[in-house]
Amino acid sequence: MERKQTRKRLPGLTLADGLTQHPFDAVNGVQTSGLVAGRHLKTGHRHDRHATAYYGVAPSVLRGLVRRWMRTKGCAPLEETAFVDLGAGMGRAMLLAAEMPFRAVIGVELHPALAGIARRNAALWRKAGRALAPMRVVESDATEFRFPQGSCVAFLFNPFSETVMRRFMAGLKFQFAGRPGQVDLLYVNNEQERVVELQRGWSRLFLGPVRRSAADAIADYRILANQPDGEYASSNSEDCSIWRWVG
Ligand SMILES: C[S@@+](CC[C@H](N)C(=O)[O-])C[C@H]1O[C@@H](n2cnc3c(N)ncnc32)[C@H](O)[C@@H]1O
Repeated sequence: MERKQTRKRLPGLTLADGLTQHPFDAVNGVQTSGLVAGRHLKTGHRHDRHATAYYGVAPSVLRGLVRRWMRTKGCAPLEETAFVDLGAGMGRAMLLAAEMPFRAVIGVELHPALAGIARRNAALWRKAGRALAPMRVVESDATEFRFPQGSCVAFLFNPFSETVMRRFMAGLKFQFAGRPGQVDLLYVNNEQERVVELQRGWSRLFLGPVRRSAADAIADYRILANQPDGEYASSNSEDCSIWRWVG
């Protein structure tokens, strides 16, 4: 008799764990819902213990922050810029970014199961004709990722705590040495803002809340109200920042 393969889902991605589908998935036929606490994101990498959690960004916040970035003086044209999501999870931010004509959209994700889901979502997006930008998912630690040549946006939705943030910023400085103006940081839920403030060579272009749409605020509130242990809270906005590497 053939044995049925059962793949164990990450804690936080089953109905028993309180999984509530985000309307983004229901409307678009993708899989980006769920909340996986950092302690469950085990890969064997030394940075595992610094992972915050998996949670998809609110679409209105991603779009609102990109709109703000596009209004910054000296911002490179979208068509010349690679959007890189460090800690891409299931790829919700990638999907939203790929609806804009970026030069490329790249997701960097440490956890193989999440990276696999992000790849599936990207394939669905392409098939549906929603991807204006070429998309790819790289299964890697964020500090080990090598950025492409040309202008880049490094997008972070609070993926890791201070130690990894410091290492990530040191790597950015090394990679973009001699390339002033070629990388901007878009940071949502900027818990490690202080780490960036303490670095030389960065100019802050924006600091403040970016509002969730009413629909996103309701969706996130419902999702987080369903967590079994009530560990995470939602609000009507995310604290964000935008930085430019001036070297
Ligand atoms: C809050 S989620 C953000 C998901 C996605 N960026 C979005 O906005 O929809 C953070 C993600 O960062 C990933 N992560 C944490 N530490 C990482 C690291 N050192 N390198 C790469 N990814 C990491 C986690 O596995 C998780 O999927």
